[in-house]
Amino acid sequence: MPPLEDKSFTSTPGKFKVERTHAMNRQLHRCFASASTMFLWVIFLIALTASYLSFRRFVDSGSQYFAASWGGFQWEKQVLNSAQAHRSGGLSVLVTGAAGFVGTHVSMALKKRGDGVVGLDNFNNYYDPTLKKARMYLLQDHGVFVVDGDINDQRILAKLFDIVAFSHVMHLAAQAGVRYGMENPHAYIHSNIAGLVTLLEACKSAYPQPSFVWASSSSVYGINEKVPFSESHLTDRPASLYAATKKAGEETTHAYNHIYGLSITALRFFTVYGPWGRPDMAYFSFTRNILQGKPITIYRGKNRTDLARDFTFIDDVVKGCLGALDTAEKSTGSGGKKRGPAQYRIYNLGNTQPVTVPTLVSILEKHLKVKAKKIVVDMPGNGDVPFTHANISLARMELGYKPTTDLQTGLRKFVRWYLSYYGYSHGKPSN
Ligand SMILES: NC(=O)c1ccc[n+]([C@@H]2O[C@H](COP(=O)([O-])OP(=O)(O)OC[C@H]3O[C@@H](n4cnc5c(N)ncnc54)[C@H](O)[C@@H]3O)[C@@H](O)[C@H]2O)c1
Ligand SMILES: *[C@@H]1O[C@H](CO)[C@@H](O)[C@H](O)[C@H]1NC(C)=O
Ligand SMILES: *[C@@H]1O[C@H](CO)[C@@H](O)[C@H](O)[C@H]1NC(C)=O
Repeated sequence: MPPLEDKSFTSTPGKFKVERTHAMNRQLHRCFASASTMFLWVIFLIALTASYLSFRRFVDSGSQYFAASWGGFQWEKQVLNSAQAHRSGGLSVLVTGAAGFVGTHVSMALKKRGDGVVGLDNFNNYYDPTLKKARMYLLQDHGVFVVDGDINDQRILAKLFDIVAFSHVMHLAAQAGVRYGMENPHAYIHSNIAGLVTLLEACKSAYPQPSFVWASSSSVYGINEKVPFSESHLTDRPASLYAATKKAGEETTHAYNHIYGLSITALRFFTVYGPWGRPDMAYFSFTRNILQGKPITIYRGKNRTDLARDFTFIDDVVKGCLGALDTAEKSTGSGGKKRGPAQYRIYNLGNTQPVTVPTLVSILEKHLKVKAKKIVVDMPGNGDVPFTHANISLARMELGYKPTTDLQTGLRKFVRWYLSYYGYSHGKPSN
């Protein structure tokens, strides 16, 4: 037996069609007959979409807020305590890259003489982040709070400048290292170009505008062969992406100086080494390999010439940084407008005593009391330059900069720190 509906279909097809049209008309009529009902429907849909979007935004910002582990009453209190100067006329300095090698030493030195310091670092894993955390705990013990954040995060920067009237920014956060540029070029753009601009934007908008002191690099001299390297030499032939981003930084800061009246000082560091140093640098990895009985690779330049570096001990560099902060004039702008010309300076911070890499190795062998297994190879075209040698007369005259530590002495201090930090006694791991 066919179902009832089918029967009605076949029995009165014409009637059905008519009835269906009527039914549709009735439905259409019910829904959209009056303009006002239709209008209400549209409003309802818009409201639904809008509330969904704003809910999403709330959830996103909420998760960012909490995931980044910054903000809130306790956090602000820590920032304010750390920023508090403990001497009259003390500076209040935002140190970026504070958990880095140079940043840790500069932050400690400022805090010790009574300045206020707030650190900022993203603890990235370019090298072992546990070393960065250990430096952070060292700073914490000395009353320096390091905010966990990226210089590309404009909300963190706005917040920091909102709660602290920083007199100075010591900008040391960067993607460092020359050879890593072939592996991860975008890390250099992220930190050294984009991050720098985000930080400069925050500085230019801050009230008062801070004076800006930052780390450029001896690598900007590139394939320049005139020695010693002087600030007046041309620096338009970088040999690595790292060098190119540092050079770009010198020009970017110049534009902010020119347009917004930011006081700018660039410090071109020459191969800085010392306790709490950077594991990716040759003196550090040589030490590790020599102690582990592993071979070390020593590069040799064209015509079998030894590579040489103007190694500069960390304590000397720190004095140069403090000299730069102390002599920096105030920025002249406010409300994003320049009021008059502002200071723009560039200084070499080197040691002026270049030492060849084989000499560096023999000093390490002596301090470690272990012979190195050396593999000597010709330098590949990987961005390293054959030698660096600083002319530091400008920094000497204007910053009172006077390096006093030779490589022997500096490496002895480094080795002592290395052995104790990594738990060695008498050349063998003690645990
Ligand atoms: N050590 C040297 O020989 C030398 C030589 C020339 C120039 N420099 C420059 O000096 C500065 C300090 O160097 P260092 O040897 O202490 O290096 P480092 O890598 O130990 O310190 C840099 C710190 O910045 C942090 N950082 C990187 N990108 C960041 C970002 N986007 N946001 C927040 N933090 C970020 C890192 O986590 C690190 O702790 C750098 O600008 C470097 O390019 C160093
Ligand atoms: C290499 O050394 C030779 C002889 O010592 C010299 O004539 C030549 O100019 C050198 N080449 C370079 C690139 O320095
Ligand atoms: C070093 O630089 C100064 C200028 O800062 C210059 O007068 C001097 O001649 C330079 N010295 C050398 C050896 O090039």
